[in-house]
Amino acid sequence: MISLLVLLATTLAAAPASMPGVHGHITSYVRNSPAEFKTSPRRTAAKVESDEDSDCCSICFEAWTNSGNHRLASLKCGHLFGQSCIEKWLKGQGGKCPQCNAKAKKGDIRVIFAKTVKMVDTTDRDRAVRELEREKQLRRKVELEAAQTRLQYELALQECNMIRTQLDRERQRKAQALTSVSGPSPSQPSCSQASSSQQARLYKFDSSIPLKGESRLLGYDAQHGTLVVSQASPNQLFPGFGVKKISAMDLRSMQYVSVHSKAIRDICFSGRVDGLMLTASIDKTLKITSLMSNTVVQTYHTPFPVWACCWNQEDNNYVYAGLQNGSVLVFDQRDTTKHVEELSPPRTRCPIVAISYVPRDPSSSLRCGGLLLGTLRGGCFWEKTSTEYRPHPLPMEGSCTSLKFEHTTRHCLASFRPDKNHNSTRHLLCELESRLVGEDGRNQCSCHVMHTFYGGSTQKLLTRSALFTSPGDPGQILVCAGDEASTSAQLWSASTAAWLQKIPTDGPVLDVCPFSINSKHQLSVLTDKLLRIYSWT
Ligand SMILES: *[C@@H]1O[C@H](CO)[C@@H](O)[C@H](O)[C@H]1NC(C)=O
Ligand SMILES: *[C@@H]1O[C@H](CO)[C@@H](O)[C@H](O)[C@H]1NC(C)=O
Repeated sequence: MISLLVLLATTLAAAPASMPGVHGHITSYVRNSPAEFKTSPRRTAAKVESDEDSDCCSICFEAWTNSGNHRLASLKCGHLFGQSCIEKWLKGQGGKCPQCNAKAKKGDIRVIFAKTVKMVDTTDRDRAVRELEREKQLRRKVELEAAQTRLQYELALQECNMIRTQLDRERQRKAQALTSVSGPSPSQPSCSQASSSQQARLYKFDSSIPLKGESRLLGYDAQHGTLVVSQASPNQLFPGFGVKKISAMDLRSMQYVSVHSKAIRDICFSGRVDGLMLTASIDKTLKITSLMSNTVVQTYHTPFPVWACCWNQEDNNYVYAGLQNGSVLVFDQRDTTKHVEELSPPRTRCPIVAISYVPRDPSSSLRCGGLLLGTLRGGCFWEKTSTEYRPHPLPMEGSCTSLKFEHTTRHCLASFRPDKNHNSTRHLLCELESRLVGEDGRNQCSCHVMHTFYGGSTQKLLTRSALFTSPGDPGQILVCAGDEASTSAQLWSASTAAWLQKIPTDGPVLDVCPFSINSKHQLSVLTDKLLRIYSWT
């Protein structure tokens, strides 16, 4: 409802101004003209008040004029009256505005000069616009929720189907076992086995799995006990790159899942039950693949090849892509069109070889959370505050080939190639730390080296190292890293800095990945054509 009041008083000056009731040529194009509102008692009080405001003097209920003694006048509070009426009122009624009771005195009266006063009542329209905005927001929220729910439903359905097939397989197996004649009783653990487990606790070779196609990286989906190996498509007809799934339970080879058109540079799992795999590729995409349906569920395009990726472990809606030109793009799974944020380091354009998400932990030496980056020219920590990301260069020099973050100790392991200042490969175990500087509560983040483990004199490949809790003693941390010079993987205790074991391989180690399933602790070591599995004894 828009009520309109027009006071046309152009010729009013000619009218006998001393008569309070004279309208002259005042014309009201109003739905709620004074006569109408007086005769409609159903109106609300507030409405009547506002109409009175705009129509006429609320003391005498006559229209005000633009000259003479009943001319338009206001008080400090903004309420309007005929000048003679309000002067009389203030004399008699103890100095208060008749409309709002605000204190007022004669000196507050202001004559208002207006030939034409035209007012559009927009209160209703404004309220409607506000309500529309609110509704729009609610709608956007609901649409978002619906999209997420659909995704969750799809994933749940896939999981259900997978469990169903597994159940069928188990049933068949059980039926076969029952029909077969009872064989020799399962062997008891012998004394010799028991005594050998008392000896030095190290990894022992278990089995090897030959791989077709060039392999590069390992990943482990703990939720489903699936090991994945990135490799070129084994099928000449369908070139491309993807992952080979291997069941960690029985080391059975499963499907090859095609994902990217060019080589994969990084693999991460969300750690959640949905089994979603994030992959970075030099084909300038970041993809999310469901390993339950073996299909790509989301693709993000980037302006440069993606070298590294990770999930935001506190809010799985966000994923990070580390680019070849040194920038990090932040993507929101609910918005596939474009990245939501871009972190560009000052000065450097160095490729990002590794990226790890660090959750907040106010009780540790690095209180804040953020992103830990390893680049071909060192390391960097992007602190995540509630509003922004702030870069803190880390005091590590050299060409970083691998960087891992261990969540229980919040330490990191950064591996560096030999360079003109260092004649061997170095693996630095670092403690991350932050301290408050300045009054505005800013953090300064840094790290210090606790131990340095030295490898051989060559390191051409971007081999990935591992930092993980010891299967035998959760209080102890182990470091495992490939060594090109001696074609082996080396194992150290990070807690005591002691060298533990050399694991010989058939070629340069590309990646190592520890995993545990059914309280069996294993280590997988990948070379170009072979995946070797070792068991903790
Ligand atoms: C990397 O590329 C993006 C996109 O072209 C650009 O916005 C960003 O500034 C670049 N980063 C660096 C460190 O130059
Ligand atoms: C590396 O340099 C150190 C001295 O800085 C030397 O003692 C060591 O023998 C060198 N190692 C190799 C493999 O050249």
